[in-house]
Amino acid sequence: MTASWQADVAAVGARFDAEIASATDLDALRQVEVAALGRKGDVTALMKQIGTLAATERKPYGAAVGGLRGRVEAAIAARRDSLTAALRDAELEDATFDETLPGIARRRGHLHPLSIVQRQLEDVFTSMGFSVLDYPEVDSEFNNFEALNIPSWHPARDMQDTFWLAGGHLLRTHTSAGQVRAMHSLQAPFRAVFAGKVYRYEATDASHEHTFHQVEGLMIDRHVTVGHLLDSMRTLLSAILEREVTVRLRPGYFPFVEPGFELDIQCEICGGSGCSVCKQQGWLELLPCGLVHPNVLRAGGLDPNEWQGWAFGLGLSRLVMMRYGVADIRLLLGGDPRFLEQF
Ligand code: PHE
Repeated sequence: MTASWQADVAAVGARFDAEIASATDLDALRQVEVAALGRKGDVTALMKQIGTLAATERKPYGAAVGGLRGRVEAAIAARRDSLTAALRDAELEDATFDETLPGIARRRGHLHPLSIVQRQLEDVFTSMGFSVLDYPEVDSEFNNFEALNIPSWHPARDMQDTFWLAGGHLLRTHTSAGQVRAMHSLQAPFRAVFAGKVYRYEATDASHEHTFHQVEGLMIDRHVTVGHLLDSMRTLLSAILEREVTVRLRPGYFPFVEPGFELDIQCEICGGSGCSVCKQQGWLELLPCGLVHPNVLRAGGLDPNEWQGWAFGLGLSRLVMMRYGVADIRLLLGGDPRFLEQF
């Protein structure tokens, strides 16, 4: 190449200035960009010719071509901005485009009502110093029954109630199966909650489901009495239901608690005078509970002479139904979007 390269560089620059100015849409501009700056583009080709020049020419040549490249890049960017702006203006001026119409709302995922209430409960318990634990739904006969002082002749062991699996395993029939697991894994004294699905082999109707949710609560300490149990339950339920609650205990039999209770709360609809929600009882049955049976403490490796505890098994499905006014438990896990989209 001769010393007339100045003219060549200027000519290439002038040609691309004109081509950029006359590119009327983004595709055309893109083609100009490739023709100038692409791997086989003209500006790139000029760059490569530096090796053919005399040593003294290389510096000014490199500066000139580098400057050209920068100018072309800037001109393309500016042209692209103005073409894009023109496109948007054209769109806005389109008579069929109405910017006052509401936008298209994006559909967002959301939590299942069971998850919403479970998380609220776990927040309340966490704030009261409980550990939140999680245990498998497939468990052993020992954890689900034997360790809980449920001997083999107990009706709860009947094939009617339990989904048995191979090798003596089963689908846990209650979250109480986690009690001795917790006793073995945590250092007494402790308090813990563990929520999850439980399974019962039974026919379904509006208030029975083969799969439902419970939240187990367990507190192990020294000198635990029924007074502690009652007060803890009242405090917990007030926090969960976000109001003062009046509770009453009725005796209830569960092999793993002694004494065992059914705990009722006063009906909030009628204030205890009786209405259709509480079936004229004035009370709603909410959670079975009791003091942990000494045999269960022993199965958990704790000395009943030193340690006591209380436990409860809250019907989470039932609480969700009460909270949201769901009349049929089968809706909860039925997966019908018409139900789920309401939450
Ligand atoms: N596990 C019992 C049930 O499912 C409920 C329960 C839990 C009762 C803890 C007492 C203490 O019926």
